Amino acid sequence: MRTASSSIVVTRQIPEPGLELLRAAGEVWISADDRALSAEELRVAIAGADAVVTMLHDRVDTAFLEAAGPQLRCVANVAVGYDNIDVDAATRHGVVVTNTPGVLTDATADLAMALILAVTRRLGEGERLLRGRDPWSWNMFFMLGTSLAGKTLGIVGPGQIGRATAERAHAFGMDTMFAGRADGEAGLKRLLQTADVVSLHCPLTPATRHLINAERLAQMRPSAYLVNTARGPIVDEPALVHALQDGAIAGAALDVFEHEPEVHPGLLELENVVLAPHLGSATIETRTAMATLAAGNVVAVLSGDPPLTPITIRRQANC
Ligand code: DGY
Repeated sequence: MRTASSSIVVTRQIPEPGLELLRAAGEVWISADDRALSAEELRVAIAGADAVVTMLHDRVDTAFLEAAGPQLRCVANVAVGYDNIDVDAATRHGVVVTNTPGVLTDATADLAMALILAVTRRLGEGERLLRGRDPWSWNMFFMLGTSLAGKTLGIVGPGQIGRATAERAHAFGMDTMFAGRADGEAGLKRLLQTADVVSLHCPLTPATRHLINAERLAQMRPSAYLVNTARGPIVDEPALVHALQDGAIAGAALDVFEHEPEVHPGLLELENVVLAPHLGSATIETRTAMATLAAGNVVAVLSGDPPLTPITIRRQANC
């Protein structure tokens, strides 16, 4: 049961409505600097905490769990992805882990669609041209892109965000196809060989790390585009740079990076790449909903109630 003295650590600033919920549930400590804490800073900050609200860059492993201490009951990640958390270790320590599914589905699918449009219609390139003050004039062949109607969007990871992206693509006249874990290697190969745009929506797991490597990039059509709004390490970034340089694929649009926040320098040089700084869930409404859901999970666990959105093995099987 929660006591008045429950200690809740929030590892960096979150929207106020989430903090209000947490303050009503215990003593809240928030990192004074709005930056990712180092592993050592994190271990110091969480010592003695009953609950910790974590961000996607906070590594929750055995060292973290031991540093917190045996009273720790909940780690509430403010993200749907939880590749930063060793869920098995947390379970062994009796710690409930929660994430924020659902509330960021639309925002992330919107961004995936925005990136699909941006890369196929060369928006980044056009913007750079104008900002570079280079001379230009309209002509019939100027900066031609690729139409989406009648093309096929291949969705790797048929979870909520993948399906929501498919709905948006249908509105643009695209056909869609899916590949998930259940479809196996053959299903993924068929998708890569067929799709005009491949959009990644699977979680980062040991099985999906470098899922898109040199061999699989070579299976894509030379006219195809790769879009990643899931997690950077799903793509072997050096292999992607080579594929783009060699014309093995037509372009890429990336919201996430293998060594985030670093971006492979080769990507920065290429005109046929659209880059965004992990903006998938970055709307005021969505980030507020994520913070309040994470806080709601903490409140539930500290009150002895079931968490709202616990991480379960079943959910891991989604993509
Ligand atoms: C998530 O929730 O996993 C997103 O990457 C955060 O934007």
